[in-house]
Amino acid sequence: MLRSLIIYLSKAEWMRQRVMRWKIARKVVLRFVAGEKLSEAIKIIKELNSESIFATLDQLGEDTKNAEQARQTAEDIILILNAISEAEINSSLSLKLSQIGLLLDETICEENLSLILSRAQELGIFVRIDMEDSPCVDATMRVYWKMRKEHGFDNVGMVIQSYLYRSEKDTEELLAGDTRIRLVKGAYKEPEEVAYPSKRDVDNAFDRLTKMMLDHAKQESSPAVSDDGRWPPITAVASHDEDRINYAISYAQTNGIPKEKLEFQMLYGIRRGLQKELVQKGYPVRVYVPFGSEWYPYFMRRLAERPANLWFFISSLFKG
Ligand code: FDA
Repeated sequence: MLRSLIIYLSKAEWMRQRVMRWKIARKVVLRFVAGEKLSEAIKIIKELNSESIFATLDQLGEDTKNAEQARQTAEDIILILNAISEAEINSSLSLKLSQIGLLLDETICEENLSLILSRAQELGIFVRIDMEDSPCVDATMRVYWKMRKEHGFDNVGMVIQSYLYRSEKDTEELLAGDTRIRLVKGAYKEPEEVAYPSKRDVDNAFDRLTKMMLDHAKQESSPAVSDDGRWPPITAVASHDEDRINYAISYAQTNGIPKEKLEFQMLYGIRRGLQKELVQKGYPVRVYVPFGSEWYPYFMRRLAERPANLWFFISSLFKG
């Protein structure tokens, strides 16, 4: 109930305008967001890299309103790719297709994405397409496959959400094309017609999908994380849930799958101790580092995931 309300508010313009004006909100946001400037995010990634943690950098923003804005965002993303390369940080890039025009016109989005992927390819940078809410999934899949099959890019990967009923079928298809997949539970409010309403079912589906991905990793030809850590393996388990992480580790161990073929991913600011523990155990770990001024919907989704975050936020408001 509370989660649904916060996710609803994450899309409400009147609330966005209010919260973004609160100074205290900006302070709390820094727990989950690396800063408003690219230089701040790069500094944080350097610190993570010094602890042998890889990153994926994300410029916050979604629901771009017109074609000019979508093209401008694509150009900004190309500058970010240049900055990753110049700073010599160990980071891939994550983006949302709605940032570059998915909801306006698929062709515009494809043009923008192919510009981004082409520059990323020149610089040897891997790009992950985040998955948004369920009305975007078909279009996101179509654009992804166009990039792979028609444009021939292989420096791009996808996200699968375990709460969607369709995800087993999508995973099968993506694995058949050797797609590098990030598996998440799913962060949006979805109707019962498309997604499991109960947490237990979402968790069970997560383990089933992990198993499918790791079964692919058993094949000799299934890529591991690259030696320099810049390219992820096929299987990236993106969760802070220790039961899900332990399931993946135990299945991989039982089946003799090398550690380089199982990457763990977490969000900036969440479960730092666990990130370090997994690195010490020899697993690749990548942290999703968001930055930028459009932090409102991302921040609200993080509040929705954990009531304690909301109480922390509310108590900060009262403390001033
Ligand atoms: P769960 O929510 O069950 O949390 C398990 C435990 O982790 C909690 O008990 C708590 O200890 C800790 N935790 C989780 N969230 C927390 C928070 N916000 N603050 C503090 N502690 C927290 N979703 C999506 O729909 N599309 C996408 O593209 C992505 N991309 C993505 C990338 C990466 C790297 C990650 C880690 C996650 C995403 N997500 C996402 C978000 C994902 O769908 C999901 O909402 C969150 O990861 C929370 O789910 P958990 O798997 O962590 O489990």
